[in-house]
Amino acid sequence: MSTPTSKKLMSSHRWVLGYLMQEKAIFLPSLAALFFTAMLSLAFPWFLKELVGDPAEAYRNGVNAQQVLEKSNRVVLQLVAVLGLQAFVAFFRVQGFIHSGESALNRLRRDLFAHLVRLPMPFFQEQRAGALSSRISADLGLVRETLLTTVPQAVRQTVILVGGLIFIFVASWKLSLIMLGSVPFVVLAIAFFGRKVRAYSKAAQESLAEAGMVIEETVQGINDVKSFTNEPFEATRYDRALAAFFGVTMKGAKHRAAFLAFIIFALFGTIAFVAWFGARMLASGEIGDKNFVSFILFSIFVGASLGSFPEIISQLQQTSAASERLRELLDTPVERADGDPAVKLHGALSFQDVSFRYPSRPESLVLSDLNFHIQPGQRIALVGPSGAGKSTVFSLILGFNDPEMGQIHFDSHPASSLSLRALRSQIAIVPQEVLLFGGSIRENIEYGKPGATHEEINAAATQANAFDFITALPEGFETLVGPRGTKLSGGQRQRIAIARAILADPKILLLDEATSALDSESERLVNEALERLMIGRTSLVIAHRLSTVRHADSILVFSQGKIVESGSHDALIERNGTYRFLVETQLV
Ligand SMILES: Nc1ncnc2c1ncn2[C@@H]1O[C@H](COP(=O)(O)OP(=O)(O)OP(=O)(O)O)[C@@H](O)[C@H]1O
Ligand SMILES: [Mg+2]
Repeated sequence: MSTPTSKKLMSSHRWVLGYLMQEKAIFLPSLAALFFTAMLSLAFPWFLKELVGDPAEAYRNGVNAQQVLEKSNRVVLQLVAVLGLQAFVAFFRVQGFIHSGESALNRLRRDLFAHLVRLPMPFFQEQRAGALSSRISADLGLVRETLLTTVPQAVRQTVILVGGLIFIFVASWKLSLIMLGSVPFVVLAIAFFGRKVRAYSKAAQESLAEAGMVIEETVQGINDVKSFTNEPFEATRYDRALAAFFGVTMKGAKHRAAFLAFIIFALFGTIAFVAWFGARMLASGEIGDKNFVSFILFSIFVGASLGSFPEIISQLQQTSAASERLRELLDTPVERADGDPAVKLHGALSFQDVSFRYPSRPESLVLSDLNFHIQPGQRIALVGPSGAGKSTVFSLILGFNDPEMGQIHFDSHPASSLSLRALRSQIAIVPQEVLLFGGSIRENIEYGKPGATHEEINAAATQANAFDFITALPEGFETLVGPRGTKLSGGQRQRIAIARAILADPKILLLDEATSALDSESERLVNEALERLMIGRTSLVIAHRLSTVRHADSILVFSQGKIVESGSHDALIERNGTYRFLVETQLV
């Protein structure tokens, strides 16, 4: 992504502000309270000036000590009262800000998630597993920091800056002008260093996301990491990512540090110079004691507030880069949602001259010129070596990807005219590698038909040959399956996926047979369940077992993205081609 222009930065802030304004019933009063307490914080130097400046002037003019003491008692009491009021309002203001900030964030999080799940498949195919989620959470973290801390800080410091400036001008416009002479330098410095810091912070963010991804990938594949004893390898990978992050951060730190050093010197140097000039004015009687004290006290406040702006501005810049990325994500077009959602499929399916390549790897044609026609209720087997394109056919049928050329028809409807919702709700897939969700067995089966009754779930489990093993577990249907279903065996997971598909009651069934061999008993149970599932439905089976292929109405033999042979088992054996070779070498 190119560096965002300042116009874009403003608009991304406005976008975040839009989320805050949806909570305006709480946000605006909190903002008003913040203005109020910030103004009250100026009362502190004002009362101090009264306390310190008055006696100084009084002694010079020869007023009696008793009067001065009485006045200072009164002033201290007033100061304590103001502090009390400030504390009281701040108590509610802080809660109000957190309330509106976190609510706005939750709204944003919900919008992002709702959008994310509706993005088209190629979007996900182009991402590395962990990259997207860790980037989103890092960006949301930045936005959160800004809403909850930086925005209140910015408002507060602005009020103090403006109010303080008014007071110092009232105390002495001449001294004020001398002091403000240095401001353009500071502003230029902010602009110069800020740009550098922003560029590095973006790079740092990205390399931190890279490191987060290593953790995510490692945890996801922890079985492989451990079984290959690749812990040191992963640690090295993580170290490398961290080192890259550290390098970028330190480059940014150099600019940040130079900036801060400059600010310290320029700011406090100016104050020293102004104090020196003021002392001369004081000596010549050009300014009174009280005004001089007032000027010094308010200058300290103004200086402190000016000094906090670089941090605030750099935080705002980082956040606008983050919110820009989030907004880009929200602007990414979602899957099409057109077409009649009530269309009923009969189960016929055809491919006409279908060619396809993955957008992420445009140089290789994965499927070329596929042609086949399936009647309702037919059973078709897809066989062929690994990487031939069989699973890709399934993802085209499901509308995860669109063909580059050619047409897919369901009954007489072109696939592109059907609503994806209608299409997918009438297709069920039992994948090669069944990954369950982290909940209970019941929830995992219910996934096929949200809201299904207990009876329906029991019946589906029975049909899937899963009922017996489920009820034999101490917690039965309520057993938690562990992350991605890892607490169940491969065969058990598959039967749960079959039960899920039975419950979904699809017109078209896609089975990606597991390549890993099950033991003969669980294979029998799974096959039996699959046989039941396929009755009365159009079924496409990516087959790795001869037993499955033999019963198919027709077999499509894939090789390098093409259908090289098709027909029944007997006809293909007769033909003495690729299929026969596959069977003889037990590849099917
Ligand atoms: N998301 C993707 N992006 C780019 N290329 C991909 C993607 N998914 C698969 N491919 C490539 O497409 C080709 C076909 O893959 P596919 O998964 O369809 O093979 P398959 O026939 O199902 O193999 P297997 O029997 O091993 O499951 C392969 O060369 C694969 O590398
Ligand atoms: Mg496959």
